[in-house]
Amino acid sequence: KNTHGIDTDCMTLTRFVLQEQKKHPEATGDLTQLLNGLLTAVKAVSSAVRRAGMASLFGIAGATNVQGEEVKKLDVIANEVFINMLKSSFTTCLLVSEENENVIEVEIERQGKYIVCFDPLDGSSNIDCLVSIGTIFAILRKDHEGPPTIKDALQSGRNIVAAGYALYGSATAVVLSTGDEVNSFMLDPAIGEFILTQRNIQIKPRGKIFSVNEGYAKFWDPAMKEYVENKKYPKTGKPYGARYIGSMVADVHRTLLYGGIFMYPATSETPKGKLRLLYECNPMAYIIEKAGGLASTGIMPILDIVPESIHQRAPIFLGSKEDVEDVIALYKKHQ
Ligand code: AHM
Ligand code: MG
Repeated sequence: KNTHGIDTDCMTLTRFVLQEQKKHPEATGDLTQLLNGLLTAVKAVSSAVRRAGMASLFGIAGATNVQGEEVKKLDVIANEVFINMLKSSFTTCLLVSEENENVIEVEIERQGKYIVCFDPLDGSSNIDCLVSIGTIFAILRKDHEGPPTIKDALQSGRNIVAAGYALYGSATAVVLSTGDEVNSFMLDPAIGEFILTQRNIQIKPRGKIFSVNEGYAKFWDPAMKEYVENKKYPKTGKPYGARYIGSMVADVHRTLLYGGIFMYPATSETPKGKLRLLYECNPMAYIIEKAGGLASTGIMPILDIVPESIHQRAPIFLGSKEDVEDVIALYKKHQ
């Protein structure tokens, strides 16, 4: 299969999704088409993040680029690309983006049955200093014939049809689950395709890393304080290592691959934490659960929350099963 360094039969993400679709004879192919549009957007954003086409993207340190157009910030560009690619896939009816205050309703002529909630470029504080950033998405289905309403976006994470993320790290990867396995694909820039690199990812039952912004420790609740204290000064065994990038996608990806726990807890300043349920917590919780891990608010599973508004937040603890169970036990103890 591998001649002259070329895999003549490589498993691309498109091919993989198509193959999965064929296992369900009743499938229309709409999800495949939607994911294709999404992947095109990921490739475009990946290219922009890597500062390809610098001149037109940035101009020279000014507010306008060489065409004299106002220079757009990367997150704004990413948002436009995702919205345009999703609308023109003819498979979506509602879009929820971190960048848009209201839901975006797709023009009737281009409507399909899916709802996509996404954060086009997460980790905004890391964009300008070239630290890893990512895109997060969750796909839901409209389960009635009528026109879409905001209620269709406010479904619990248990109804997710497919979810995943793109990580623009030292390489660009897409991690995706359409309900069964979690699979990881790496962008091969030479052919512009995502190639299957890790199949059926399973997260370790226990890790050795905790990941949290410890700068806010002053505002933590007693359960959270006790948990981190235990990681740093364990009564038995070795302390955990600490890692915190400040880009959810990068921190979650490491947690998925190496194990451990990622936390964005509630604080006295932000009683619901920071991260958004629909397009940050839910898709990540879905991936982690499908990989055998847990994602909890400390009190209940993230995926069981019934959303009330599209930009609502939730505290989150996700990662290796036993590590998250330790946190849940402390919340029980301190309740
Ligand atoms: P953003 O949507 O403004 O980029 O914020 C989300 C990011 C996450 O990627 C990350 O986990 C978190 O904010 C970091 O927040 P903090 O700087 O408070 O630790
Ligand atoms: Mg975000």
